[in-house]
Amino acid sequence: MKKLFIETLGCAMNSRDSEHIIAELNRKEKYDLTTTLGDADLIIINTCSVREKPVAKLFSEIGVFKKKRKNGAKIGVCGCTASHLGKEIIKRAPVVDFVLGARNVSKINDVVSQRHAVEIDTDFDESSYDFASYRSNPFKAMVNISIGCDKQCSFCIVPATRGEEISIPKELIVQEITKAVSTGAKEVMLLGQNVNNYGRRFTSPDEKCDFVQLLRAISAISGLERIRFTSPHPLHMDNEFLEEFASNPKISKQIHVPLQSGSTMLLKAMKRGYTKEWFLNRCQKIRTLCPEASISTDIIVGFPAESDEDFADTMDVLERVRFDQLFSFKYSPRPHTDAAEYEQQVDPTIASERLTALQARHTEILDEIMDTYLDTIHQVYFDELKPNNKIAGRSDDGKLVFVEGSEELLGQIVAVKITKVSRGALDGIVIGE
Ligand code: 5AD
Ligand code: SF4
Repeated sequence: MKKLFIETLGCAMNSRDSEHIIAELNRKEKYDLTTTLGDADLIIINTCSVREKPVAKLFSEIGVFKKKRKNGAKIGVCGCTASHLGKEIIKRAPVVDFVLGARNVSKINDVVSQRHAVEIDTDFDESSYDFASYRSNPFKAMVNISIGCDKQCSFCIVPATRGEEISIPKELIVQEITKAVSTGAKEVMLLGQNVNNYGRRFTSPDEKCDFVQLLRAISAISGLERIRFTSPHPLHMDNEFLEEFASNPKISKQIHVPLQSGSTMLLKAMKRGYTKEWFLNRCQKIRTLCPEASISTDIIVGFPAESDEDFADTMDVLERVRFDQLFSFKYSPRPHTDAAEYEQQVDPTIASERLTALQARHTEILDEIMDTYLDTIHQVYFDELKPNNKIAGRSDDGKLVFVEGSEELLGQIVAVKITKVSRGALDGIVIGE
């Protein structure tokens, strides 16, 4: 059997694309996955282009692949950087055999057999394509509900790499989840660039369904216990959606609310479509409707023209919302984006200082939050064996929990009492069903 080495960078959407690539390749020819580069007959890197660093890393990585690969092994570049650099990749690194864009995953079997094939059509419509099945974790399923993005956030390259937003028909989503449940998944992660904008555009004009209706249809699937989704957009967090989030018992009480900046002026320059007040109001609404929910966020520091006052607004939101998880980034100018042309780029030293201050304060808040978990009881879904008789799972609100135990716990949701807390995870003991 041939061997496949696949490296996945970036977001959950990319992880799902990698699963699709593996499944589609296996439809035609069986591949064994390997983590040893030198054993692989096919080497694929599924790239991210949201910031500049991973793009620079790509070419050094291709150099390593070239050196370490076994004789005759093919190299493919997929994902967002493939979409925006296209044939430029082969020009700079002729060792690359094929380039496949983030919106062309279903064409993997076409490109793999052609020398120097480039498929990067961002208008390509895969919304009804019936991908073959493969899951990296048998207990959980990732399922795309939409592809592409219609927002034009001024910092973001994604609309240029993944194209315009198209929703996947409800019936296909329900079918896919039903199948996943019948093969052992109790949890689904719904994926889209703006999940709560679901239904904005379908390929067929007769199709109609919004995100709340989709959530209700999915929760009717018997055997499915937990529904998660990423990422929702704060702009589309209307009361109906938040009420459904809070009241539907199958929806896990963990929500990502990407802030980007706490300054209304910067939010405008970012073209985010909401203000600081709207963001705080939505988080307050979540806290009121669902006090047990954990809230995570994304923040960019050093966006063009960010002043001390703008940054103070971001710190103020951090202080008020007290996020359970923070993904924070220094602004990185990207091609095909408006903000890359803005004149007042921020001094990188100042941006670094702001990032450090933001992360330091978040860490203090997080330590206080984690302390409150001691001696509390959570329903934990166990999905991964760890060394030293440990087994890992997630609480409903998304915290990583370890207990001592064996594989009998895999795929089970059981009550756990938390006995030890740390910044990144909780330890506990199983106390029952
Ligand atoms: N620079 C820095 N961070 C960015 N993100 C998106 N584009 C950029 C950029 N140009 C961040 C946003 C987004 C997350 C996925 O990546 O915070 O929510
Ligand atoms: Fe990028 Fe904005 Fe779309 Fe998110 S919503 S993918 S930040 S353009």
